[in-house]
Amino acid sequence: MKEHSTKERATFGSKLGVIFASVGSAVGLGNIWRFPYETGQHGGAAFILIYIGCVLALGIPLVIVEFYLGRRSKANPVGAFLFLAPKTKWYLVGLMGVLSGIMIMGFYSVVSGWTCDYIYQSLTGSLSGKSPEMFQQDFTAFCTNPYKPILWTIIFMAVTHFIIVSGVKKGIERSSKIMMPLLFFIIIVMCVRSLTLPGGEKGLEFLFRPDFSKINSNVILGAMGQAFFSLSLGMGCLITYSSYFGANVNLPKTAITVGILDTLVATLAGIMIFPAVFSFGISPTQGPELVFITLPNVFQSMPLGYIWSLLFFILLGIAALTSAISLHEVTTAFVIEQYKLTRSSATLFVTITLVILGMICSLSLGVWSKFTIGGMNIFDLFDFISAKILLPLGGFWMSIFVGWVIPAKDLKSELTNKGTLKFYGFNIYRFILRYFAPIAIGLIFFNELGMLSFL
Ligand code: TRP
Repeated sequence: MKEHSTKERATFGSKLGVIFASVGSAVGLGNIWRFPYETGQHGGAAFILIYIGCVLALGIPLVIVEFYLGRRSKANPVGAFLFLAPKTKWYLVGLMGVLSGIMIMGFYSVVSGWTCDYIYQSLTGSLSGKSPEMFQQDFTAFCTNPYKPILWTIIFMAVTHFIIVSGVKKGIERSSKIMMPLLFFIIIVMCVRSLTLPGGEKGLEFLFRPDFSKINSNVILGAMGQAFFSLSLGMGCLITYSSYFGANVNLPKTAITVGILDTLVATLAGIMIFPAVFSFGISPTQGPELVFITLPNVFQSMPLGYIWSLLFFILLGIAALTSAISLHEVTTAFVIEQYKLTRSSATLFVTITLVILGMICSLSLGVWSKFTIGGMNIFDLFDFISAKILLPLGGFWMSIFVGWVIPAKDLKSELTNKGTLKFYGFNIYRFILRYFAPIAIGLIFFNELGMLSFL
C-alpha cells in the first residue's frame, strides 16, 4: 500500500467545530442506549464510578494517542501508520481498524434504523395504548420482519451518505454544529421532566448511591469495554477526525473535553431514564430492550407521552447519526486516500457496502436467524468481533506503537504544538502508554474471550 500525499487536505474550520464533531462521534447509541442498560444490569452507581475511573485512566490517554496519530500524519488510519512507520507491518493495525469500523456499522445502522421507525411510530401515535406485553411482541415482530427494518436502515444510511458526500467542512462539521446543541437541549429538557415525576428519587438513588458490594471483576471489565465503545476508541475513528484538526488545536485539552462531555451525556441519559422508570414502578435491570420496550411503556403512562416519546427517539436518532457519520468517514477517507478515488465515488462505494452489511445483519435477526457461527447470528457476531475483539486489540497496538515505537520527543512536540503549550505529567502519560494501558487492555480482552476464568 502506498503512502499518500498530505497536501491539500480538508480541515475543520474552527475549534468549536473540532469539539462538536468529536463529541458527536463519541456521543451515540453507546451513551443513550447501551450505557443505561449496562448501568442497570451492573447495579447502578458503583458501575458509574468505575466507568468514570476507566475514562480518566485509560480512555482519555488513548483518545490522545489517536489524536497524535491523526494530526501528526494527516491521514486515514492505514495512511497514518504508513507515514509514521514506513516499510513495516504496522499499517495492519490501521487496516484492522477500517475493518472493525465496517463491521460496527453493520449493526449500528440497523439499530439506528429501528430508532427511525420509533420516531415515525411516535409521530403517528402508534406507540400508545398498548400493554407491556404488546410492546414486547411488537418490537420482536418488527426486528424479525424481513422488509421494514431494512427500509429504515436504507433511509438512515441515505442521510449519512448525504452528509459524508458533502465533505468534511460542509458535511460533517456543519451538521455536527447543528445537531450537537440540539442534542444537549433535548436531553436537558427530558432530564427536567424525569426529575419532576413523583417517586423519581428512587431512580436517582439507584444512579448515585454506590453499593460497593456490587463491584466485581466483571463490573470493572464491563466498564472498560463500555468506555472504549463510548469514546469511539480502538479503530482509528479519532485518527481520521484528528487528521482534519488544525495546527492550533490543543490535543490533550480537546481529549479531556471530549471525555468529560461524553461522560456527562451518558450520566444525563441515566438521569433522563431511571427516575422515569422507577416512577412507574418498572424494573431497571432490563438489557438491550430498555430503550425500545420499557421506555415507550413509561412514556405512554405520562401526560403528553407522545411528545416525550417523539423527543426521546429524535434525541437517539441524532446521537446515532453523528456517530454513524464518523464511522462512515473512516472507510471513506481510507478509500479516497489509498485508492485515489473522488469523495463522491468513494462515499457511494462505502454506502453500498454498508447497506448490504446492514441488510445481512437485519435479516440475521429474522429469516436467517437459524444461520449461526459459534452460537451467534451475524448481528451478534459482528458486535462481538468488532466491539469485543478488534477494538481492544486496536487500542492495545496503538498504545504500544505510540509508547514504544514513536520517540518521546516527537510525541511531546506534537502534543504541545511544537513546545508552545505545556503538558504537565508527560512522563506519567508515557508510562500509561507503555505499561498501564497495554496490561489493562490485555485483561479486558482475555476476560471477554472467557480465558480468565479465575477473575
Ligand atoms: N461512540 C459511539 C457511541 O457511543 C459509537 C462509535 C462511533 C464508535 N465511532 C466509533 C465505537 C468507533 C467504537 C469505535 O455510540
